[in-house]
Amino acid sequence: MKIVICHGQNHKGSTYHIARALADKIGGEITEFFLPRDFGEYCVGCGNCFMKGEEKCPHYDKIRRITEAIDESDVIILDSPVYVYHATGAMKVLLDHYGYRWMVHRPSENMFHKQGVVISTAAGAGMKSTNQDMADSLFFWGVPKIYRYGKAVAALRWEDVSDKTKEEIDRKTSAIASSIQKNHGFVKPGLKTRLYFAIMRQIQKKGMMSPQDRAYWSRKGWLEKERPWK
Ligand SMILES: Cc1cc2nc3c(=O)[nH]c(=O)nc-3n(C[C@H](O)[C@H](O)[C@H](O)COP(=O)(O)O)c2cc1C
Repeated sequence: MKIVICHGQNHKGSTYHIARALADKIGGEITEFFLPRDFGEYCVGCGNCFMKGEEKCPHYDKIRRITEAIDESDVIILDSPVYVYHATGAMKVLLDHYGYRWMVHRPSENMFHKQGVVISTAAGAGMKSTNQDMADSLFFWGVPKIYRYGKAVAALRWEDVSDKTKEEIDRKTSAIASSIQKNHGFVKPGLKTRLYFAIMRQIQKKGMMSPQDRAYWSRKGWLEKERPWK
């Protein structure tokens, strides 16, 4: 299995350790990116990705390595510590660059059979909204199976996390890893993804988005009988 991890932070704290433990338990080829070390460009809002094509993004070459790893993966793990109730700015900066891949624009068909995981840790609270920040992108990219794990670790550093909490993390990461292994190769879009895809298809059919988007949907055959899943 190919696993890509995008860490919304450069350091190896609690969030990193949980994400890495999960990936190790799933097993396979693991590719990791640390943000902003491996990508830290702000979206400049030019809209080129939507209107002219993603290769016209001024950061296209810089982000390409991450994009390719995401495309080639079976499992995408996004993790972030909770910073003021949300994902880190570094994670947001990455996700902003994939707006053009949202289902309403030009989703990649390789997303519709992947599994995704969002992980966040906080001292006390904010995991739900932080995981939502990341899960929104996975869902709208087309990823049909998304696991969410938020953990209040009551610490600012992994070294200060209690043994009891580390045991809970161990049990939870084992359970998620086992589900991912079981589901590998059998993941299909559920009702929610199919419903959203149908709505986006109507929007594209009516020509409500850019000509670039419409040409993409037409080329894929999605305006007719083809679908990005089998
Ligand atoms: C800038 C900043 C903002 C934070 N905001 C929150 C917060 O909103 N809620 C919370 O419970 N913890 C908050 N924390 C604490 C971290 O989320 C928590 O310690 C987390 O486990 C750190 O993960 P890491 O070890 O991977 O860096 C914040 C920490 C920092 C540095």
